[in-house]
Amino acid sequence: MKVLVVGSGGREHAIVTAAAKNPRVEKIYCAPGNAGIAALAECVPLGAMEFDRLAAFAKERGIDFTIIGMDDPLVGGIVDVFESEGLRVFGPRKNAAILEGSKAFSKDLMKKYGIPTAAYEKFCSPEDALSYLETAKLPVVLKADGLALGKGVLICNTLDEAKAGVKELMEDRKFGDAGNTIVVEEFMTGREVSVLSFVDGKTIRIMSSAQDHKRAKDGNEGLNTGGMGTFSPSPFYTPEVDAFCKEHIYQATVDAMAAEGRPFTGVIFFGLMLTEDGPKVLEYNARFGDPEAQVVLPRMKNDMIEVMEACVDGRLDEVELEFTDNAAVCVVLASDGYPLSYEKGLPIEGLNRFDEKSDYFCFHAGTKAGEDGQIVTNGGRVLGITAIGKDLKEARAKAYEATEWVGFANKYMRHDIGQAIDEA
Ligand code: AMP
Ligand code: GLY
Repeated sequence: MKVLVVGSGGREHAIVTAAAKNPRVEKIYCAPGNAGIAALAECVPLGAMEFDRLAAFAKERGIDFTIIGMDDPLVGGIVDVFESEGLRVFGPRKNAAILEGSKAFSKDLMKKYGIPTAAYEKFCSPEDALSYLETAKLPVVLKADGLALGKGVLICNTLDEAKAGVKELMEDRKFGDAGNTIVVEEFMTGREVSVLSFVDGKTIRIMSSAQDHKRAKDGNEGLNTGGMGTFSPSPFYTPEVDAFCKEHIYQATVDAMAAEGRPFTGVIFFGLMLTEDGPKVLEYNARFGDPEAQVVLPRMKNDMIEVMEACVDGRLDEVELEFTDNAAVCVVLASDGYPLSYEKGLPIEGLNRFDEKSDYFCFHAGTKAGEDGQIVTNGGRVLGITAIGKDLKEARAKAYEATEWVGFANKYMRHDIGQAIDEA
């Protein structure tokens, strides 16, 4: 079996690593991939948004199964293009990926089907948004409707900040068309949990929980990033929370999408806030989280390819997911300056220390092979250093120990990934 993975980050390295474990998989391609992925897959210089070229490549090479890792191609309809060419592909079609692609859509869906989420209003003109904000309770959350690299969410503590936010999103169009419509949402407090799931259009199977750390600096200070580190499972995701979400959120979302004529096949990522009034949905994503995949997939006992094939074939009801009774922590090594500006092309030392260790993973995100073959930094998030331990404390200690094995000139990390578990 030949597999193609579309994407180039740490999440895709984790997906390729899991795919390589399937005994039927004889060859993996990754477009465009990175220097770490290149050890397991042939990297192809095609961009994730080049749908026609990717589909042509898949046909030409006889690819049996394609996995789309990233949000942009999913929201843009890559799955529809592959399907129209008769190719087997894992991920939601365009009309279902809108669950992530439009916050206005997902909020309206939750309202219509009674799925718990923060109260909200949506606006397509800055005047209407501004007049509503005059009387809105503070803090208030502004969200660009469309995809904005996880940066289109503004938490505003004062009316002035909120007004500036409306200007940024709708008038200055900082995120382009993504800000044509904005959602203004009630501010919620509580712990955040990421729950990933496999879905086949009708049936949903929940993976082990995780928690991300989105802010750039220790103590949740600094700018929002793609994610600076994760742990799995989350000790705050108790059996009671799980039972509530199973009753009110997970299947309800899958059924709502089917009822809307938008059956969802692929991964639904539920971003949850555990509020005093119970769990509520912060956001949906239509794919694995990054770096959630890096702590969830290594703990999955099932063969990932088989679960994905069951999704595509609509027989996920035959599958039960199983996770190892241990824990994982991923610490992201970033380039100092991320998420704003940073240097690239710096040599990375010590990567071979991860070879042949089954409880440590060095997932590459922004890396590439330099001219002399030396692996160099090539992005803001460079590596996701992941360790498995018998519990979260052990996994965290091991992950931080392993962050010392690798070096590059502007290496930056948070030192408090997983500290929240001490309060559990
Ligand atoms: P989102 O992309 O919608 O997940 O938002 C990014 C981050 O903003 C979330 O992970 C939360 O930390 C925060 N956030 C989003 N919506 C809210 C809300 N209604 N109340 C409080 N924090 C929020
Ligand atoms: N780690 C959050 C995300 O992938 O959106």
